Amino acid sequence: TAMARAAVVACALSLMGCDGVQSALDPAGGDALRIYRLTLVMTIGGSLIFLLVTGLLLYAIFAAPERRVWLGSRRTVIIGGLAFPIVVLSGLLPYGLIVMRDTDVPRSGALPVEVIGEQYWWRVKYPAEQERAEFSTANELVVPVGRPVTVSVTAADVIHSFWIPNFGGKVDMIPGRVNRLNFTAERPGTYRGVCAEFCGDQHARMAFDVVALEPDAFAAWRDEQANPAREPDLPDRARGRELFRAGGCGSCHVVRGTEADGAFGPDLTHVGSRRTIGAGQFPNNVGTLAGWIANTQHIKPGVRMPSYGSFTGEDLRALAGYLESLK
Ligand code: CUA
Repeated sequence: TAMARAAVVACALSLMGCDGVQSALDPAGGDALRIYRLTLVMTIGGSLIFLLVTGLLLYAIFAAPERRVWLGSRRTVIIGGLAFPIVVLSGLLPYGLIVMRDTDVPRSGALPVEVIGEQYWWRVKYPAEQERAEFSTANELVVPVGRPVTVSVTAADVIHSFWIPNFGGKVDMIPGRVNRLNFTAERPGTYRGVCAEFCGDQHARMAFDVVALEPDAFAAWRDEQANPAREPDLPDRARGRELFRAGGCGSCHVVRGTEADGAFGPDLTHVGSRRTIGAGQFPNNVGTLAGWIANTQHIKPGVRMPSYGSFTGEDLRALAGYLESLK
């Protein structure tokens, strides 16, 4: 019938969010799995209790009066109203507390990363480790598979919230305060993190990629990122570089190894290596980057970067081409 078909479609639609790059129902690490199991127990248990209570309610309404006398007996009230909730809640409370404790402990040998929420993007800092220098990137959290990660989060302006559904719980990013989140990626892949606290007009456009790499690939990525920019010595890059300098881009953005040393906006030292621009809005390539530079305030009204609409198309391509060459 039409009703049954509608029900099937509704079920299918509700299950579509269950796997993929941004789903708490598709855990890719132990902590996310623990939280997922807790969610299942709560949801299924809660549903069963709801059905039981609804059944009793209907029975109380519709059964013949002489058949439902037991519902009002003292024993029923004590068992159903007192004993049952005490037993169930006393079981769930320690379970919840244990999951919270297990996901909260810092792990030895964890990779420390700092993430700072800003309207409307993510500054991601990798502190120095062994011989590797510290460096900063944006809107991209790259982690090794199998090694615990401790993310220290804070905010530069208003409260944001850091959430990677596939890896576990979310944690608020509060100005002036550092919160921590631990997780371990157990499956290589690209996942998606989002801002989970309303932080202004562009809150919905504040996302980031989480890339879990095998340890060797992660080490290679990290070595590469710690290097200063390598500006390819190509004649068609010189024009873009000159526009970057003359446009004053370096007063907000740093390109390590050049005279651009602004600390306000995202570090662009290896911007060409990133997957997206605009905090997860577009794939990163010359075309989208040129469009972004010219129309920032149209694409994400309220971000700190002004639109640079005065560049010609040719200039924009040269500028974006220069930036894309910074791998
Ligand atoms: Cu940042 Cu919502």
